[in-house]
Amino acid sequence: MKILKTTKELINYRKSLTCNVGFVPTMGALHQGHISLIKESVQKNNNTIVSIFVNPIQFLAGEDFTSYPNRQKADLKICELAGVDALFMPNTDEIYFENEPILVAPMKQSFILEGYQRPKHFDGVLRVVIKLLNLTKPTNAYFGKKDAQQLFLIQNMVKTLFLDTTIVPCEIIRDENGLALSSRNAYLDENEKLQALNISKSLKIASIEIMRGELHAEKIKEKMKEVLKELEVEYIEITNRKFDKIEKIDLKNCMILVAAKVGKTRLIDNMWI
Ligand code: PAF
Repeated sequence: MKILKTTKELINYRKSLTCNVGFVPTMGALHQGHISLIKESVQKNNNTIVSIFVNPIQFLAGEDFTSYPNRQKADLKICELAGVDALFMPNTDEIYFENEPILVAPMKQSFILEGYQRPKHFDGVLRVVIKLLNLTKPTNAYFGKKDAQQLFLIQNMVKTLFLDTTIVPCEIIRDENGLALSSRNAYLDENEKLQALNISKSLKIASIEIMRGELHAEKIKEKMKEVLKELEVEYIEITNRKFDKIEKIDLKNCMILVAAKVGKTRLIDNMWI
């Protein structure tokens, strides 16, 4: 596996490839969720590039940028074992310039839910993702469905800027108890891990309600609130796949999204119906 630290090294590496390329952008602290994206890429492409870059501009002041879990040695091993061909690990200076045009996420979907709780977060995500896609020019790029709003905005960016990459959405990976895997789970102590299970449990309750025939979004949200009452809930929302709020469940076009704090750790989860 090649380790590429500069954009120049990455550009030269990419130029040397004539095959199709899969790309998995990450911020490190890799877990089974990332591994599933990498495996999918390795399986479907001749070459897989992974990036590890904790992107400072997608964190708000007071968020966990400086304490974001760093497990470089383990991450290298994971990538090597998973069959990654090249790992891009740049410094911030390699990525950002003093005077650069700024990509701004579209108002509609970036000011609600995650965007409402974390203003400008998606501007930071799109700015780094477009740079990474331009550097790696992947045939396919892999993103998890857990970050549903991020996925939507990236798909929209790729489409509207005519980028020649297919964005491949990948399923949420959960631990044996149902907790959606996230690098931030590393912050949870044993008791918090138990409390955090209520997030996926609330989604399960929602799906049971829907299977029983309950289609009213507000009634489903009420049931979910009961399960989440011990946590500091930021939002429970039911939307269509374009993030418009819906009052009645559409069994072909619906998402249920939750964000809640467990202690100091902010977690998100969702279910696509
Ligand atoms: O989902 C993430 O880990 C990050 O938002 C991403 C896509 C790597 C951009 O920094």
